[in-house]
Amino acid sequence: MAKDPKIFSICNSKGGVGKSVVTMMVAVAVAEQKNKKVLVIDCDSQASVLAMYEQEAEYYPDDTPLIDVEALSPRRVNTFLKRFGSDYDVIFIDIPRMTDKKADNPTVMLLYNCDGILVPVIGSGVDAIATQEFMEILEECKTFKAEMKEDLICHGFINRRNLRKSNAETETELKQAGLKMFSNSLSDLRIFTTPSVFSSPLSTAEGNRRFEPFFKEFCRKFKI
Ligand SMILES: Nc1ncnc2c1ncn2[C@@H]1O[C@H](COP(=O)(O)OP(=O)(O)O)[C@@H](O)[C@H]1O
Ligand SMILES: [Mg+2]
Repeated sequence: MAKDPKIFSICNSKGGVGKSVVTMMVAVAVAEQKNKKVLVIDCDSQASVLAMYEQEAEYYPDDTPLIDVEALSPRRVNTFLKRFGSDYDVIFIDIPRMTDKKADNPTVMLLYNCDGILVPVIGSGVDAIATQEFMEILEECKTFKAEMKEDLICHGFINRRNLRKSNAETETELKQAGLKMFSNSLSDLRIFTTPSVFSSPLSTAEGNRRFEPFFKEFCRKFKI
């Protein structure tokens, strides 16, 4: 019988923190390194993951991408998962930014499908506050999953470490608020400016040195 896929989201309520780009890089690395069938569901109406994917696919029409990408509105995700979820080993859901918990309820509900959530955080006071608000959503999600006797693994990590001076304060604040933080962070990587669906980020020297430790921690903490 087909197994349920593991479902993850790399998300925060804020935009511009690296949700889409880190999702792409991790998804491609999981497909390549762990030999898994991976799908990214792009729920952002700006469809940035799909755009990256299609743009690249046009250049390499004869190559097979390492991952699949499907753009869906948040309301259509559950039906899609029921019909096609078991075709995949691992599914990442890329969510849009949220402006308000109530108005964005269909987006919040997407997280209820997840086995694991990784929260990218930019090291600044504003981001620390926004992330703590997002943690309230995570708590509700955890409670729901617990009632269903399901686990939800949640962690955070500092993205673009080199850009900000207040990473340590942000990290301490979030840890105190109860978010477990990765020991690895990500600095600005050149490979992230042109994510590829045809080659693993780990196959470059930069990816090998600066992305792999983070990726390994991801696989360990989220049991892939
Ligand atoms: N670690 C990183 N290294 C380099 N560029 C990054 C990194 N994280 C995010 N970016 C860049 O920041 C911008 C916003 O990232 P994106 O993934 O679109 O954010 P979100 O999906 O959270 O709105 C993009 O131009 C992306 O390439
Ligand atoms: Mg995005």
